[in-house]
Amino acid sequence: MNEVKRADFPLLENNKEMIYLDSAATSIKPKQVIDKINEYYTTYGVNVHRGVYDMSSRATDEYEDVRNVVAKFINCKPKEVVYTKGTTNGLNMLANMLLPKINKDDEIVVSVLDHHSAVMPWQRVAKATGAKLIFVELDENNKITVENFKKVLNNKTKVVNITYVSNVLGVVNPVKELTKLAHEFNSIVICDGAQAVPHMKVDVKDLDVDFLAFSSHKMLGPTGSGILYGKYNLLNSLDPVEFGGDMNDGVEMYEATYKDAPEKFEAGTPSIAGLIGLKPAIQYLENIGMDNVHKHSLELATYVAEHIRNNEMLELYTKYPESGIITFNIKGIHPHDTATYLSTHNICVRAGHHCAQLITHYLGCMGTVRASFYIYNTLDDAKKLVEAINAACDYFKEWII
Ligand code: ALA
Repeated sequence: MNEVKRADFPLLENNKEMIYLDSAATSIKPKQVIDKINEYYTTYGVNVHRGVYDMSSRATDEYEDVRNVVAKFINCKPKEVVYTKGTTNGLNMLANMLLPKINKDDEIVVSVLDHHSAVMPWQRVAKATGAKLIFVELDENNKITVENFKKVLNNKTKVVNITYVSNVLGVVNPVKELTKLAHEFNSIVICDGAQAVPHMKVDVKDLDVDFLAFSSHKMLGPTGSGILYGKYNLLNSLDPVEFGGDMNDGVEMYEATYKDAPEKFEAGTPSIAGLIGLKPAIQYLENIGMDNVHKHSLELATYVAEHIRNNEMLELYTKYPESGIITFNIKGIHPHDTATYLSTHNICVRAGHHCAQLITHYLGCMGTVRASFYIYNTLDDAKKLVEAINAACDYFKEWII
C-alpha cells in the first residue's frame, strides 16, 4: 500500500500515544478534508442552489461536483446519487419512501446481522402495513449464504435488506449473488454499505443492488453527510418523505409538485461542508486504491486473530477476519471493563452491542469488544493490541469466578 502519512492526520499527530482502533464507529480525518471544510467556511461558505451571486455559484458548483466524484467512485450516474445525513438517514428515508408500495401480504427479508438503522425502519413498516418481517438464517460463520437466502425468498418477497459488512463481526456477505437471487423474485434489494464502501471497492453496477446507503464519516469524510444510491427509474418512481425548500417545482395552497430525483429527496439546507469534504476523502482513498485499503486493514485484523486465537480466556467471535474488524470478549468479563482496561494502554476500541443488538443476542452475549482497523493503523498498532489483550487477561484472571 502507498505509505499513508501519519502527518496527514492531525488528530493522530496531536495524540501520539493513542492507538485508534475504532474506525468502524468513525474514521479520523486527513488534513486534506479538514482544509477543504475550512476553505469552504472561510472563503465561500454560503448556501447552495439559492443565490445568484458568484459566491453562491461557487458553493453550488463545489457541492454538486461531489455527486460526480461519488458516482465515479461507486460506478453510477450522478443523478442516482442522493445526498443524505448518513447511512441511518438514508436507510430510514428509503423505508419511508417504499412504505406506500408495501402491502399486508408482502414479506420483507432482513437478518440478525443488520444494524438497528437497517432493521428498525422495517419493523415499523411491517407494523404499519401488516407485511411480514422474515429473518434469513446465518451459517456457522455467521454469514448469509445463498442456500439460506433461497429458503426465505418467494413471490411475496417485496424488499430485502443486505448488510454488506457486519459492523459487529466484520463478515462480508456475498451481496452480488444474493442480489441476483432476490431479483429472480422481483424483490427490491437494499444494501447497507456503511462498513463496506469505506473499505473495499463497491461497484453498484456490478453488484446490481437497487439501493445502497453509506456515510461520509466512516470513509475519512465529515460527519453529518452520506449517500443514498438508487437505480434511477426506481428511485424517481418514489415520492419524497421530507418536504421543504429546494425539492419542489412549485407550491400552491393545496398542492405542490416535486423536482425529479435526486433533488426531490434533498429538502432543506444540506450539510454543505459535510458533502464538500467528502470529495477529498474519496480522492485520498482512491490515491491508495480500494483494494489496498481492504488488504491493509484485513492484514492487521488477521495478525491480531492469529495471535489471540489460542488464548483460552478469550471468546473470539471473529476467528478469521474478512475485513478490518475483529470482535472478542474476555470470558466472564463485561466488555466495557475490557475496553476500559485497554484504554489504560491508550488503545481506543468500542465495547457494547454496537447498535446491532440482534447479532449480539444471537452470539449469546450482552456485548463484545470490537477493534477496527483502517488505513492509518500500523502493524505496531496490531502488536500493541495483542500485548494489551494478553495483559488484560492477566489482570482479569482473578476476577473470573
Ligand atoms: N454504527 C457505528 C458502529 O458500528 C457507529 O460503531
